[in-house]
Amino acid sequence: MRSLGVCYYPEHWNDNRWPVDLRQMQSLGIRYVRVGEFAWSRFEPAPGKLNFGWLQHFLDLAGSEQIKVIVGTPTATPPKWLVDSMPDMLALDENGLPLQFGSRRHYCFSHEGYRNECRRIVIQLTEAVGNHPSLFGWQIDNEFGCHGTALSYSTAARGRFQQWLQKRYQDVVSLNEAWGNVFWSMEYRNFAEIELPNRTPTDPNPAHRLDFQRFSSDMIVEFMQLQIELLRRLSPGRLITHNFMGQSTGFDHFAAGRELDFASWDMYPLGFLASVPLFSDEHRLHYLRSGDPDYGSLHHDLYRACGRGRWWIMEQQPGPVNWAPYNPAPFPGMVRFWALEAFAHGAEVVSFFRWRQAPFAQEQHHAGLQLPNGEPDAGSAEVAQLSGELPILADEKLGRGDVALVFDYEACWTIEIQPQSKQFTYPEEVFRFYRAIRQRGLDVDIVPQDADLTGYRLIVVPSLPIVRPEFLEGLRRTSGTVLFGPRLGAKTENFQIPAKLPPGPIQELMPLRVIRVDSLPLFAPQKVRWGERTYTAHKWIEHVDTDLEPIVRYEDGRGALFRCERFLYLTGLPDDQWLNAIIETLITEQKISITDLPLGVRTRCLGSLRFFFNYNPHPVQLESIEDLEVLVGDYKLPPAGVLIGRDTRRTP
Ligand code: GAL
Repeated sequence: MRSLGVCYYPEHWNDNRWPVDLRQMQSLGIRYVRVGEFAWSRFEPAPGKLNFGWLQHFLDLAGSEQIKVIVGTPTATPPKWLVDSMPDMLALDENGLPLQFGSRRHYCFSHEGYRNECRRIVIQLTEAVGNHPSLFGWQIDNEFGCHGTALSYSTAARGRFQQWLQKRYQDVVSLNEAWGNVFWSMEYRNFAEIELPNRTPTDPNPAHRLDFQRFSSDMIVEFMQLQIELLRRLSPGRLITHNFMGQSTGFDHFAAGRELDFASWDMYPLGFLASVPLFSDEHRLHYLRSGDPDYGSLHHDLYRACGRGRWWIMEQQPGPVNWAPYNPAPFPGMVRFWALEAFAHGAEVVSFFRWRQAPFAQEQHHAGLQLPNGEPDAGSAEVAQLSGELPILADEKLGRGDVALVFDYEACWTIEIQPQSKQFTYPEEVFRFYRAIRQRGLDVDIVPQDADLTGYRLIVVPSLPIVRPEFLEGLRRTSGTVLFGPRLGAKTENFQIPAKLPPGPIQELMPLRVIRVDSLPLFAPQKVRWGERTYTAHKWIEHVDTDLEPIVRYEDGRGALFRCERFLYLTGLPDDQWLNAIIETLITEQKISITDLPLGVRTRCLGSLRFFFNYNPHPVQLESIEDLEVLVGDYKLPPAGVLIGRDTRRTP
């Protein structure tokens, strides 16, 4: 199944407009519509005064147009009367200040009173529409963690955190031991003494912070579970999802994804390019109207893993957005292009945000498929074109990727909590490894530590401070090459340096020990020589103690890259050129076939189909490929151009 959807806000428009909108959606090829996720004040304008009639009416109308509906639970936007009835449900920021009413996401996940209110509204919503024939599924809440709301420093959070710690450590002596609280006299006499790790004069204990991060992640999953449990019982047969975000690491999305029937995520390529701190202005200029060629794909591959193979785009950028530092218009054709790329990575449905641009409130400058007055905006024609092309993809099944990349939320938290080099960020390193592989035309599977890694010929681990026993086991069962980046096995589960020194348990695979970290500013890169070429490593250099002969050395003779049979260890962060060269060498060694791609062009396989995407602001000429029957587009790709071909050797 591959289909199109759209996000719609019936409550924003006069109800005589709904049938017209639904008919227009149907004629564009849209088959799913998501509604309701911010509509609590219209479901319940005053305490206990319920009104679901309008939603029932909307579902009836959708049914007459054969459009299926995903209803969002409205818990991201508790109404004013509810907040006023228990003001301590508001989340508190790191400075202890409340996130006030007047936008969205102003609640604390741990607050029991608010959880009860969520249970109540979800029950009432399911009673009203849970078995409606047009109801396809549910979206829980909206974008957990958005606007920096994954952590709350409220009194409710403090109480729940203390219970969480008690469960984890049983007694406070063990907690003191695990955290190393003898340092700076931080010892506690009982769990009730433990505060949240904020507003301390200097860094709080990193183990305290890591546990608070784990706890906060668990609270989000628990908050979601309590709704899921009700929906499964009261609205049987309906699929449940949540719409995750880009560059969102505030909670463990793998853990959240395990509770869902499928994952979905919200993709705003131009907003990301303008706001994520990974890109130079030169890069931003080149891809101004198309987005970074790898950033969206990385998330497709990540959320496919979170959904255990099943995922959607719940919101896709339809034109300029409103929330980045600047908000350019995409090239004509990009709305179709982005959607096709998501499908090429295995998306089941791509849904656009939003149907019609809102002429009021916060998002007035955010485009929709229609202008505020109901005339079609540029995206509409692209959606119509796309829906005509979808039958080509209908029966194709996504195969296994060429390379596995291990991603870990705890790794991100650990590095963020005690960076040692402010310039070493986990998302950036993951992105650089991912890009190096994608630039060689390969398909990537992003996987968690406990994934089945057998069968991959190349596995890359950009960094992984806390190595889980199941990961070590998983690696032992593989026979492919494994490339480790630095900062591997550098911490125990309790945020301590392992007794055997880093890389901790990985020493069972490679006999080396890290005895010092040299954290360097960007202006002090360290040269390495590999073959005829000189490259650099930067930011982070580990000194190791080992009998292994390095295969690459720094200028001072220390080892930069070690190899022990099929395991390779980088002791520093390689520059992009060196990383590309390493990846290229390993791919060639593993006889994985590479596609030569012009700069700014990416490719992806979906079953027997091969896609090519031109992200450049200029046309490119691809070399023609034997055995490829061109179905859509041409080897000359304009900006925003897509070529889809069938690999006749792969056709069943
Ligand atoms: C998303 C959010 C939507 C809308 C959109 C604007 O983060 O889920 O409700 O605000 O951004 O791009």
